[in-house]
Amino acid sequence: MKALQVLLVVLLGAPAASGQSFHLGSCPSPPVQNNFNISKYMGTWYEIEKLPAVFEKGKCHQATYTLLHDGTVSVHNSELLTNGQVNSIEGVAKVKDPSKSAVLAVSFFKGVPDDPYWILSTDYQTHALVYSCSEYLGLFHIDFAWILARTRTLTDDVVRQQHDRLAAAGIDISRLIVSNQTGCGALGSGKG
Ligand SMILES: *[C@@H]1O[C@H](CO)[C@@H](O)[C@H](O)[C@H]1NC(C)=O
Ligand SMILES: *[C@@H]1O[C@H](CO)[C@@H](O)[C@H](O)[C@H]1NC(C)=O
Repeated sequence: MKALQVLLVVLLGAPAASGQSFHLGSCPSPPVQNNFNISKYMGTWYEIEKLPAVFEKGKCHQATYTLLHDGTVSVHNSELLTNGQVNSIEGVAKVKDPSKSAVLAVSFFKGVPDDPYWILSTDYQTHALVYSCSEYLGLFHIDFAWILARTRTLTDDVVRQQHDRLAAAGIDISRLIVSNQTGCGALGSGKG
C-alpha cells in the first residue's frame, strides 16, 4: 500500500497526495439516465455539491452547454475567484457511442485525453447528477461527481436522492463537499 501510494504521488501529484479521490480497483459502473435527450440538457447548470475536484479553486461554479451543428457540445465553465474576477475555461463534449447517449467525453485541452462525463440522472429542469471515473494501470481509479441544478440552490430532498444514487452505485459520498453559491455577483443570480 505504501509503495502504491508513492507511485500514485509520482504519477499524479496532488490528487493522489491528498488521498481524496482515488481508490483501488476498477471504476464502479452506475446506471445512467434512460433515454437521455442532450437537447434538453443544454443551457446553464450550477454546481451544488461535488466530489473533490482539485482543479477548481474559486466558487460559484457553473457550466453552460451549447449544442453545435455537428452534434458536439461546447462547454463553458465559469467560477468566481477570491479576488472577485471571473475565470472561465472552454471545452468540448461529445457522445462517443450513439447507443449510449448519456455517456459523454469532455476535453478542455487539445492533445490531452478526454475525461468521461456520465449523466447518471437528470430531469433537465431542476437537477442533474454527473459522474466521471478513470482507471489507471488497471490498479486504481480516480472519480469525480457533481450534483448540478438549474438554480444556485437545490432542495435537501433532491440532494439526498442524488446521494442515494451515488451510494447505491458504490461511490463514496463521504467525500462530497458543498459548493459555495452565495455572493456570486459578477456571475448573476442563477434564477433565470
Ligand atoms: C429531445 O428534446 C428536444 C427539445 O425538447 C425535442 O425537440 C426532441 O424531440 C427530443 N428528442 C427525442 C428523441 O425525444
Ligand atoms: C461563501 O462565500 C461567501 C461570500 O464570499 C462567504 O461569505 C461565505 O463564508 C462562503 N461560505 C462558505 C461555506 O465558505
